[in-house]
Amino acid sequence: MIMGGKFDKKYFDEEEFNSSDPWGFFTSEYEQRKYKRQIQVIRGMLKTEPEKFLEIGCAEGAHTKMLAEEFYNAKIVGIDISENAIKRARENIEVYKDRVKLINADILEYINKIPKNSFDVVIYSETIYYLGAKLPLTEMYDYLDKLVNTLKPEGMLVMANIINQPNAPETPLTRGSIMDAYYSMLSKLAEPIHKTKYNEFKKEENQTFEYQIWGFRK
Ligand SMILES: C[S@@+](CC[C@H](N)C(=O)[O-])C[C@H]1O[C@@H](n2cnc3c(N)ncnc32)[C@H](O)[C@@H]1O
Repeated sequence: MIMGGKFDKKYFDEEEFNSSDPWGFFTSEYEQRKYKRQIQVIRGMLKTEPEKFLEIGCAEGAHTKMLAEEFYNAKIVGIDISENAIKRARENIEVYKDRVKLINADILEYINKIPKNSFDVVIYSETIYYLGAKLPLTEMYDYLDKLVNTLKPEGMLVMANIINQPNAPETPLTRGSIMDAYYSMLSKLAEPIHKTKYNEFKKEENQTFEYQIWGFRK
């Protein structure tokens, strides 16, 4: 569990969120395109208009805001382990505060408070791999089982995940074989219905990154 300590609340609060939008979630074309693609996947998989969303790792609310604009009747619960990120998310989604509830918590604890069959859509973008530093595979499987159970019948889980992130604290967490293991476990728990791979240039870092978007239906 040595690495787990590194990706605790303090890491996200202090190292990554001590300035506004440190990852450029609101400004980066690369990030914004990734959010839009996830929304397109939801739209493509929809059978009925979703009423309730859960967004895990909502950070400062960039994706949350886009979801609130696109699904203008939906209620959204955003959760993030970083208090600083949630504070700024509250400011960023102020205009949608009647429909968007933001919670500062660790999803590993909060998942136990979510009743089964709660959400039409769970968005889990660029966040799952941090748990790879905390959970053995057996516990990861149990966690994913709980995650899928938060979905209503026919509900969907949509994810974006970087693969083999170069030169970053996330590098060992995002190895292709590890991401494949998450995909494989989720495919046993829900029906895999979408998988696309992208290689895209991110201007801000002058580098090309690989990421995948996945969709599952309960
Ligand atoms: C790389 S950012 C991704 C933000 C956004 N979802 C996106 O796709 O751009 C990861 C976010 O997950 C949050 N996070 C990491 N571990 C978490 C956990 N166990 N529970 C809740 N949030 C977590 C971090 O604080 C951070 O805001």
